Amino acid sequence: MLLNSILYLFLMITLGIEGTAHTLGIGIVTEEKVLANIFDTLTTEKGGIHPKEAAEHHAKLLRPLLKKALQEAKVNIKDVDVIAFSQGPGLGPALRVVATAARALALRYNKPIVGVNHCIAHVEITKMFGIRDPVGLYVSGGNTQVLALEGGRYRVFGETLDIGIGNAIDTFAREIGLGFPGGPKIEKLAQKGEKYIELPYTVKGMDLSFSGILTEAVRKYKTGKYKLEDIAYSFQETAFAALIEVTERAVAHTGKEEVVLVGGVAANNRLREMLKTMSEERGIKFFVPPYDLCRDNGAMIAYNGLRMFKAGIRFSIEETIVKQKFRTDEMEVTW
Ligand code: ATP
Ligand code: FE2
Repeated sequence: MLLNSILYLFLMITLGIEGTAHTLGIGIVTEEKVLANIFDTLTTEKGGIHPKEAAEHHAKLLRPLLKKALQEAKVNIKDVDVIAFSQGPGLGPALRVVATAARALALRYNKPIVGVNHCIAHVEITKMFGIRDPVGLYVSGGNTQVLALEGGRYRVFGETLDIGIGNAIDTFAREIGLGFPGGPKIEKLAQKGEKYIELPYTVKGMDLSFSGILTEAVRKYKTGKYKLEDIAYSFQETAFAALIEVTERAVAHTGKEEVVLVGGVAANNRLREMLKTMSEERGIKFFVPPYDLCRDNGAMIAYNGLRMFKAGIRFSIEETIVKQKFRTDEMEVTW
C-alpha cells in the first residue's frame, strides 16, 4: 500500500461511478491504465426499464462495490485525485443515487468532482488505446447513436428514432421464448442461418428505426413457415447493415480516419466483422475496446472525468445536478 501511495503521487487517479441504467459500475483509472473496473447489473427476467428498482439496486451495492474496487486497485480513497460520475442521460432515480454518492465522497474527502456524459464516455475510453478522433458507433440496449467530434462538440450524426438495437434484439428473443438478454442467443442462432428472409430496412435520412423489423420478424416467426435460424440471421444482417450505412455516411461526411464500436452490442461478432469490412474498404482504422470497457462501466466515466479535469474543467456542487436528457452536443469538448 505504501509503495502504491508513493507511485501514485506521480499519477492522477480518478474514481468513476456509472449508474445511468441497470448497471452500477465503479472504475479507478490513471491516464494510461484501468486499475479496477467493477460492476453489477440488475437483471430482470423480462428486461425493460425499471427506474426505481435500478436506483434501489445502486444504493444497495454502492458501498460494497466501492470497497471492492479500491481493494482491487490497491488504492486508498485518500489517494484518489478526482471523483467522476455519470451525470446523464439516463433514468432519473438511478442517476440521483450515483450523483449523491459522488457528492458525498467529494465533500467527505475534499476532492474535486466532475460530471460526465455517458454516451461521450463510451467513445472517449477508446483514447486510452491510442485512438485520437473517431466516429463512434454506440450500440446498447437503450442507445443507438453514431457520434463524432465536430466543431468542438460531439454531434449525433444518426440515432434510433424508436428503440435501441439491443432492445430490439432482446424483445425479439423474448417473443420467441429465449429469455433475457437475447443478444448472445440470437447471435448463436444467426450463425446457423442459411437463407436470407426479407425484413424491413429502415434508414430515414441519417436516423434509424428498429420497431418495423422487430414486428415483422415476430410475425414471420409466428407463421411457422420460416426457420428460426434464418429469421435470426436475417434480423442481424438487416439491422446491422442499416447501422453500417449510417456509420459509413458519418465517416464520409466528417472525413475521419478511425471508427470505434462501443456499447453492449459491440460483443456481437457479426457486427464487428461488418464494421471492420467497411473500415478496410475505406482504408481507415477500426477499433473495439475490451468488452468490459464497451458495456456500461465505471472506468470509462473515470477516464473521461480525468481528461476533463486535466483540461481545467471544474464543477461546483450546484453544477452536479443530474441531467436525464443530457445531450451529447450540450458540452463543449475542451479536453
Ligand atoms: P445503455 O444504458 O447504455 O443502453 P444497457 O443497459 O443496454 O446500456 P449494455 O451492457 O451496454 O447495457 O448492453 C446490453 C445489451 O447488449 C443488451 O441488449 C444485450 O442483449 C446486448 N448484447 C450483449 N451481447 C450481445 C451480442 N453478442 N449480440 C448482440 N447484442 C448483445
Ligand atoms: Fe451505455
